[in-house]
This record gives sequence, structure tokens and C-alpha cells, in this order.
Amino acid sequence: MRLEDLIGNPHSVRVSKIHRENRSAVTVVFQINKPYFAFAPGQFLMVWVPGIDEVPMSISLWEPPSVGVTVLPIGEATESLASLQPNDWIGIRGPFGTSFTLESQKALVVGGGVGMAPLKPLIYSLRKRHSGVTVLIAAKNEHELVFWEEFSKHSDRELIVSAATEDGSIGFKGLATEATREILNSNEFDSLYTCGPELMMYNLLNMIKGFRMTFQASLERVMKCGCGICGTCALDPTGSLVCLDGPVYSGESLLKISEFGKYHRNEMGVKKRF
Ligand SMILES: Cc1cc2nc3c(=O)[nH]c(=O)nc-3n(C[C@H](O)[C@H](O)[C@H](O)COP(=O)(O)OP(=O)(O)OC[C@H]3O[C@@H](n4cnc5c(N)ncnc54)[C@H](O)[C@@H]3O)c2cc1C
Ligand code: FES
Repeated sequence: MRLEDLIGNPHSVRVSKIHRENRSAVTVVFQINKPYFAFAPGQFLMVWVPGIDEVPMSISLWEPPSVGVTVLPIGEATESLASLQPNDWIGIRGPFGTSFTLESQKALVVGGGVGMAPLKPLIYSLRKRHSGVTVLIAAKNEHELVFWEEFSKHSDRELIVSAATEDGSIGFKGLATEATREILNSNEFDSLYTCGPELMMYNLLNMIKGFRMTFQASLERVMKCGCGICGTCALDPTGSLVCLDGPVYSGESLLKISEFGKYHRNEMGVKKRF
């Protein structure tokens, strides 16, 4: 294999637009004039901010030549990414990782916070295949909902969109899991797709055990190489690499991962409980 293919064909791209999604999250849009990679919903890029760091980011916009990532600033790299301006340069490698399987007639999609990022292209791809989609967008409060305005605008009989906020400022008052339980009590789905806080995804997986539906979740772990070389993102006890075997995992695979919903590792490899 060529080194470029292994490490994800590094490219410099120029930021073309910054779109504010809510009080803190922004979508950084850049141009890829001749798309040199194929993309499937759920895959991610390693995004390099010159002089700062390189971090994994889900692709939230795929309308070549416009490609975008949606960033929630929580530390040095994400803060630098979120404060970029049009015409700034960044580096990208990828796309990496597994993608969501699109076989579904009636899907429930649950996104918590910036976890909506990989779910946005998934939702549009499912609709393109004429699947019925119910989307639950969850956050602590209305100011932290991601893509709420965009999806509530497109809501119709086949794309049902609702919100859950912990403070009840909009939609269902309570946790995403509580809102999901209500939706499941009165509707039938063949699949559940999710991304967001790991405890939410863990509880959702346990919740659907009695239901006849498939489960796919996108995991976040600290990553360094993003392409299966360094071992930073290995999961206990199987050694599955999130950058290569994930970030999208099926429910069956997650049941074999003992650290799912329990702990992750920081940059030094030290275990941190959720
Ligand atoms: C496949 C994948 C896709 C991602 N997609 C997005 C996205 O679309 N939008 C977005 O805003 N973020 C996304 N992230 C998370 C993002 O990469 C991290 O928030 C970022 O690396 C933090 O870097 P920092 O320098 O800003 O913060 P740091 O200072 O490095 O970290 C701040 C805190 O967050 C913890 N942390 C850092 N990285 C991770 C991680 N990957 N998982 C869990 N905890 C972490 C650190 O231990 C520390 O406590 C994704 C992560 C992965 C693995
Ligand atoms: S980040 Fe290096 S192996 Fe996954």
C-alpha cells in the first residue's frame, strides 16, 4: 500500500465559510475542488490546525466541492478550529473509519450535542433512499441543540424531527434516553442510529434489547494517527481500533467491548470513567 493511502492522502484546504450552528458550535466549510476521496456517512477526517494540533472530526457536510466539519470548542485544537476565518488554511487527512449501514425502512436517529455531526449526512442519505426517518436532537438546553433549525425546517411526514432538552427550554423536558423511551412506546422502527455522550449510547443499547431493531453507534476516543498505526484508540478487551474498526460499531460488536459506557483513556493512556 502507498504511504499516502495509509495515512490518508494529506491535503491543504482553504476555509471558505464559517457557519454558526448554535451558541458555541460552528461548521467549518472548505473546498475540495476535485473530490479525491469517496465518503460514506459516519466517516471522519484528521484535521490539522497549523501550529496547534491534529484532531479527528466527523464529516458533517458533503456537497463537493464544499465539505465541512462541525466543531464544539472544548480545548486548544477545537477552540482554534472554531475561531478560523474564511481564507485560513488547514490540513486534512482521510476520510477514515467505518460508516453507517443504510439498510433501513424506518429509522430512529438519536443525536446528543455535537454528536449530530456524523448523523446529518446519514439522515440525508437515508431520506434519499426513501427511508422514513425520525430524528431526536438532544442537548442540555435549546442553545446547545445542533442542526435543530435546519432539520425542523425540513420536517415532514417522512422526516419527523423533535428535540429533548434537559432544562425543558424546547421540546421534551429530560434526557435523550427518556425521550427515546417515549418515542419507542408509540412507534416501531427497524433501526436505531446514534452518536453523542457514550453513557447515552450505552443506555440506548440496553433499552432496545427487547425490540426487534438493529443498533449502530459512533464512538469517540482520543486519537493520534487516525489510521491504525499508533494503538492509542484500542478498546478493551478486543483491541479493536476505533479509527480503523470504528468509529461506527453495531450493537453486537459493542456488546463485546467491555469498556463501552464504562471508561475511555486520555492522551496518556490513563483510564477515565464516564
Ligand atoms: C471519530 C471522531 C469524530 C469526532 N467528531 C467530532 C466532531 O464532529 N465535532 C467535534 O467537535 N468533536 C469531534 N470529535 C471529538 C474531538 O476530536 C475532540 O473534542 C478533540 O480532539 C479535542 O481536542 P482539543 O485539543 O480541543 O481538546 P483537548 O484539550 O485535547 O481535550 C479536552 C478534553 O476532552 C478530552 N478528549 C479529547 N479528545 C477526546 C476524544 N476523542 N474522546 C473523548 N474525550 C476526548 C480530553 O481528555 C480532555 O479532557 C470526534 C472524535 C472522534 C474520535
Ligand atoms: S489513532 Fe492510532 S491506531 Fe487509532
